[in-house]
Amino acid sequence: MSGRLEGKVALITGGAMGMGAAHARAFVAEGAQVVIADLADEEGAALAKDLGDSGHFVHLDVTDPAQWDTAVAETIERFGRLNVLVNNAGIFTTGLLEEYSLQTWDKTIAVNLTSAFLGLKAAVSALADSAPSSVVNISSSAGLQGHPGFHGYSASKWGLRGLTRSAALELADRTIRVNSVHPGGIATPLLKAIREIDESDLEGSTLKRLARPEEITGILIYLASDESSFVTGAEFAIDGGITAGSTA
Ligand SMILES: NC(=O)c1ccc[n+]([C@@H]2O[C@H](COP(=O)([O-])OP(=O)(O)OC[C@H]3O[C@@H](n4cnc5c(N)ncnc54)[C@H](O)[C@@H]3O)[C@@H](O)[C@H]2O)c1
Repeated sequence: MSGRLEGKVALITGGAMGMGAAHARAFVAEGAQVVIADLADEEGAALAKDLGDSGHFVHLDVTDPAQWDTAVAETIERFGRLNVLVNNAGIFTTGLLEEYSLQTWDKTIAVNLTSAFLGLKAAVSALADSAPSSVVNISSSAGLQGHPGFHGYSASKWGLRGLTRSAALELADRTIRVNSVHPGGIATPLLKAIREIDESDLEGSTLKRLARPEEITGILIYLASDESSFVTGAEFAIDGGITAGSTA
């Protein structure tokens, strides 16, 4: 590895599993120090232990403003600064309109969208102090198109695009860049919870396969690093062509 993230301290929400864990491992390999912030204490602590001195786990429910303040304070205490925030934690919910409850809607918006707003609020002053800084909001291919039954999930992921742009415009003067990434069809625990998948799964993408979490990490390293110093308010689809259009 080439030290592309040397000097960067990153907080990755939902970093204990799936894509967040892949990003945490790769960030450390590129020279960053990483705080894994997650509800999953056991998995998060085990990953932090694996990452050695460059890793740290903090319990964070991304819907709780007080826990956000603690997570940011603990990051500064442990590593001295915070200049990369990855709002990655998310849940998937689905259901036809007659069945999809207000409670499920509220929870989905809280975990997938309000979380990023709370994260920005809690971290903005630390990010400004350690600028140049970068915020990456993990949306979805479902934030670029519609799917029947995805009501709360799609709304939350489309909402992240709006928040990304308003924050990018507001924070540019403080040398904080804000971008969104739109994965689609990645083999993680989230997708496995929805349906049976295996290596030969062809459903969904133009490339006719699912991706490994590591295939999303490259864009995260680019956006977290100063290589992307002229990139803000932008959207990156890493979805095997799901949103390219229909072949029908
Ligand atoms: N897997 C896909 O195909 C796919 C596609 C598009 C977008 N995404 C998005 O990518 C992100 C990561 O997804 P993944 O597939 O790696 O999911 P995952 O389920 O494998 O991991 C999600 C992580 O978020 C954590 N989390 C859930 N609720 C939380 C909360 N309230 N507070 C803190 N942590 C919480 C979980 O404990 C878990 O570690 C999500 O935002 C998801 O919506 C995934």
